Amino acid sequence: MAASSSVVPEVALRSGNARPMPAVGMGTASFPPVHEAAKSGVLAAIEVGFRHFDTAFAYGTEKPLGDAVAEAVSRGLIRSRDEVFVTSKLWCTQSHPDLVLPSLRQTLENLQMEYVDLYLIHWPVCLKPGAATFPPNRKEDAVPLDVEGVWRAMEECQRLGLAKAIGVSNFTTRHLDRLLATAAVPPAVNQVELNPVWQQRTLRAYCAEKGIHVTAYSALGGQSWDGQPNAVLESPVLAEIAAARKKTVAQVALRWIYEQGVTPIVKTYNKERLKQNLEIFDWELTEEDRLNISQIPQKKVVMHTVLFSPEGEFTLVDPADLNIVEE
Ligand SMILES: NC(=O)c1ccc[n+]([C@@H]2O[C@H](COP(=O)([O-])OP(=O)(O)OC[C@H]3O[C@@H](n4cnc5c(N)ncnc54)[C@H](OP(=O)(O)O)[C@@H]3O)[C@@H](O)[C@H]2O)c1
Repeated sequence: MAASSSVVPEVALRSGNARPMPAVGMGTASFPPVHEAAKSGVLAAIEVGFRHFDTAFAYGTEKPLGDAVAEAVSRGLIRSRDEVFVTSKLWCTQSHPDLVLPSLRQTLENLQMEYVDLYLIHWPVCLKPGAATFPPNRKEDAVPLDVEGVWRAMEECQRLGLAKAIGVSNFTTRHLDRLLATAAVPPAVNQVELNPVWQQRTLRAYCAEKGIHVTAYSALGGQSWDGQPNAVLESPVLAEIAAARKKTVAQVALRWIYEQGVTPIVKTYNKERLKQNLEIFDWELTEEDRLNISQIPQKKVVMHTVLFSPEGEFTLVDPADLNIVEE
């Protein structure tokens, strides 16, 4: 199959020294992680033209992503690792000032890389270092996040050149206010759930004002962990627009995200879908499409509870105590 004909634009981040970020990224979260599936998915993505990849320590896909990039170099699909933009994330059990640098070194070893382009604090939540099981279930495992100390350690990762840029994920405007009050290096990126069904207008306006680039996870409504219908892929409004534009619903959703100045991160290992997900840059939505999408009823999918075992004591904790109230 030929590579996508669409040229992927790039976004210059306002903080850090990362190369420009390609305006669509491939997600690699898939549970349980299967090494071969993830590796061949990333290789397929590179073949069709993806150059931006999203992983995390918690996904268990750093190693297959690194293996795929190494193989892509040895097969001549790309000249070097520098041609790809790689994001990884610090897990909640690692969000302790003294664990940030060792955790990034572990991530780099998994990726077999000398640097990540972007390193994010995965959640504004801190779990005790020992609570490595996922999801954790004892409420004693949640401890206050020392956001100032953790961010200083993130800044050190950037200073050492191990992360070209640093940022956060799942931070609300309140979390960002707290972080920006003390940060010497402002976060380059906030990665949050964002799609036509969870549009995040307030957060987007806030980040635009502060020069923080927003990337969108669950860009197509997320993977169906609990068997719930997918509110994006099954949206009648998006289906109608897709039919009129001769595009797929996925393309309409990704195009809408891109038009908001946000970078979608989308997961599939399927080559045909990967190709489709890149073909969003040579056409646009109409004013009427945008108006119709702006009126879609809003529904958040990824709740803080995904972090915790449904059988555990965490379900008894008031989310406000964990400082991760959804907004
Ligand atoms: N920072 C965070 O806390 C956080 C949280 C969640 C996710 N993420 C990141 O964001 C990435 C994307 O989010 P996500 O994995 O939640 O879900 P998503 O990208 O919204 O994907 C949802 C589903 O859409 C399907 N899909 C993909 N392309 C398609 C197309 N062209 N047509 C039809 N269906 C298509 C995929 O199915 P198939 O796989 O069967 O093709 C996938 O299961 C993750 O992989 C991860 O890297 C970050």
